[in-house]
Amino acid sequence: MYFIWEKIYETGVEKIDFQHKKIVEYINRLYTDIVINKNTDSINETLMDLKIYTISHFSVEEKLFKKHKYSGDDLEEHLKKHSDFENTLSSYIGDITSSKNELGYNIIEFLKDWLINHIMETDMKFVQFINSKIQ
Ligand SMILES: [Fe+2]
Repeated sequence: MYFIWEKIYETGVEKIDFQHKKIVEYINRLYTDIVINKNTDSINETLMDLKIYTISHFSVEEKLFKKHKYSGDDLEEHLKKHSDFENTLSSYIGDITSSKNELGYNIIEFLKDWLINHIMETDMKFVQFINSKIQ
């Protein structure tokens, strides 16, 4: 199933929301590659594009952490989640072929769960931190 963007995923930080929507587009492109086109080259190309995009997304978030002086355990945890994600994604790249259907589905499920968790738990915590400083 394609990933459908929901309003509850909005953090209220325009740049972050825009980038999260782009990540949803990558996940959906991957779904098309894996389930419809079944082409190993395009699957790996989309995974690479997703990796490049998420690296730049994380660096945007990490610049905001600095700007707002985010610190402590929440910051450490957030940074670790970024690097864990990159490692997991890297391990999928090259490992997937169009004949490994099950792995393809696992990757899509992993990405969907990861994004929802990333937004609803990790990023929302940071946004609450920013908002608590403004008020
Ligand atoms: Fe994010």
